[in-house]
Amino acid sequence: MIDIRIQTQAEYTVHIGSGILNDCGKIMSALIAPCTVAIVSDTNVAPLYMQTVKNSLVLAGYKVIEYVFPAGERSKNVQTLAKLWEFFAESELTRKDAIIALGGGVVGDVTGFAAATYLRGVPYVQVPTSLLACVDSSVGGKTAVDLAAGKNLAGAFNQPIAVICDTDTISTLPEENVSDGAAECIKYGVLGNKRILEIFEGLPEDVNVDANGVPTSGYASTRPLYEKIKDSLEEIIAESVRMKASFVCRDEFDTGDRMYLNLGHTIGHAIEYCSNFELSHGHAVAIGMRKIALAGERHGITKPGTADRLTSILKKSCLPTECDFDPEQLLSAGLRDKKRSGGKLTLIVPKNILSCEMRIIPVEEFSDWL
Ligand code: GLY
Repeated sequence: MIDIRIQTQAEYTVHIGSGILNDCGKIMSALIAPCTVAIVSDTNVAPLYMQTVKNSLVLAGYKVIEYVFPAGERSKNVQTLAKLWEFFAESELTRKDAIIALGGGVVGDVTGFAAATYLRGVPYVQVPTSLLACVDSSVGGKTAVDLAAGKNLAGAFNQPIAVICDTDTISTLPEENVSDGAAECIKYGVLGNKRILEIFEGLPEDVNVDANGVPTSGYASTRPLYEKIKDSLEEIIAESVRMKASFVCRDEFDTGDRMYLNLGHTIGHAIEYCSNFELSHGHAVAIGMRKIALAGERHGITKPGTADRLTSILKKSCLPTECDFDPEQLLSAGLRDKKRSGGKLTLIVPKNILSCEMRIIPVEEFSDWL
């Protein structure tokens, strides 16, 4: 097991390892006396892992109650939040008790916000079960629900008391969700983590083959990404969490350096909107990172060849690198991005494959810039 300490105002440890769902009770025991623990999960994850987490907690002397809501982004709303509050109240949960978020980003975000607001704050633990949640949303304390006007518009900074990341849970993810998380890992590489880049750049290249088995141009994901990365998973997650921690600890409340974590995201969010959310977050971020690297090369900010190198890494990781939306379409969607402030957009632009810089541009220059 790898332990990484997150030195935010309220410090906590991210535990990463194979099979550690069985250690949830033991890890909790070191943090909180026997009490009632509300495990919140969704209809995809609960059938797979609820019983394991529950058994571990009961064995450690905790009373467990469960709440399961329908899986999917559509559940990340005020209604689910209100139902959680009511469930906690009906179960007479107190501030001496605890909450566990068992699932991907949606479960983590909405449960973290419910934990921040019920009784003005109850301790909670993140148990992420998707690669995206392991390397991004479970660490750093951003919690939220979506509003009709946009994603993550109501929320709170609320650090968990621990993160328990069992690498075995990644084996049950659909392929698209594995590559989704990989896009965020590659982002950490481009933000400065050499080891992550080495791992993804070293993945075997899959090539398209014609009916006779003769390689044709381009790549295709002929092998599941999970199969390619499973032996390095613990290291990939640990390096990603270390990268995320380095930005979060410098800027917990997202007013400066934490914005580097948005590499590929301003364009990525615009692509998600333009695709009516048919394209997943990580896939849109992958395309966004390549687009910003290409634009950076044209503006003389990014070392020539960086976009090509990034394209190859993304393709080896079964990620898309292109979309059909033109800069004007992206601009109208990009303007909805909550990261804009005072008519300016903050863009994170690669200087090379291993470092980035921040550029602030007027919104109206966005499509030309791109
Ligand atoms: N997901 C970006 C952040 O936590 O700031």
